[in-house]
Amino acid sequence: MNWLGQQRHRWKPAAEWLRAELPEPLDGALLVGSGATAMFSDAPLWRCPYTAVPGFPAPTVAGHSGILELRRIGRAWVLVFGGRFHLYEGYQVDEVVAPVVLASLLGIRWLVVTNAAGSVTHTYAPGDVLLLRDALNLSFRSLPMAGRCHISRHLFPHPEWRLRLRQRLEQLGVCCPEATYAAMLGPTYETPAEVRFLQRVGAEVVGMSTVHELQCAVALGIGALAFSVVTNWAAGLQSRPLSHAEVMETVGRAAPRLYRVVKAAFSVLPDL
Ligand code: HPA
Repeated sequence: MNWLGQQRHRWKPAAEWLRAELPEPLDGALLVGSGATAMFSDAPLWRCPYTAVPGFPAPTVAGHSGILELRRIGRAWVLVFGGRFHLYEGYQVDEVVAPVVLASLLGIRWLVVTNAAGSVTHTYAPGDVLLLRDALNLSFRSLPMAGRCHISRHLFPHPEWRLRLRQRLEQLGVCCPEATYAAMLGPTYETPAEVRFLQRVGAEVVGMSTVHELQCAVALGIGALAFSVVTNWAAGLQSRPLSHAEVMETVGRAAPRLYRVVKAAFSVLPDL
């Protein structure tokens, strides 16, 4: 069995358990990063802690609730993963992509991922919400997909979904520029020299997540879009030291705009 098959096998009991629990059929999944569950003000239709899902790990980072919810967002029923697993927490790629594999086992074909990121150039400022047009995987880890390494069943970002979203955001007058994301391993923030390196290789924002989830979505044939909330100027672009508290505070402030963008994305799913 190849690696992807092993992952599907591993999360099958979790998927079966969830299928029996969930009150509605699912259209999409949303995997939210640091503090971004603040974008929801209303109650979900259904919720459960990750720890209730058989075998599922629990996030350890502040701002990652570890709660799974079912929500109506835009026109879609969406399974919301309130928190992700990071390599810097000591998890392996297998756990990092667990929500994506689980979503795929539940029949989900559309995924939105959000993260918090630092601005590497002076173009984007804290509080901005960006659609990722591309990503640089600088984590030096990849999906261990021996034998399947050249197979990708989708492009990232999904072309038709991206186009529909662009049109909808224009109608709504919501500003959401596109940017290239660089994923570092962490857990430390970058040095100013690393940030100058990132500027030169074409990154516009930097974080410590997302790329493996997107790789996995593409491999599983799930259409994906990803958004960064810019939470700070990257190291060297601001004089005070970075902190996770600052990141969380800025995500909270940007939450209403993030919600508008995410809702727009789920209102224009290509097959709804
Ligand atoms: N660097 C890496 N990860 C981050 C940052 C940053 O500046 N901000 C939020 N997550």
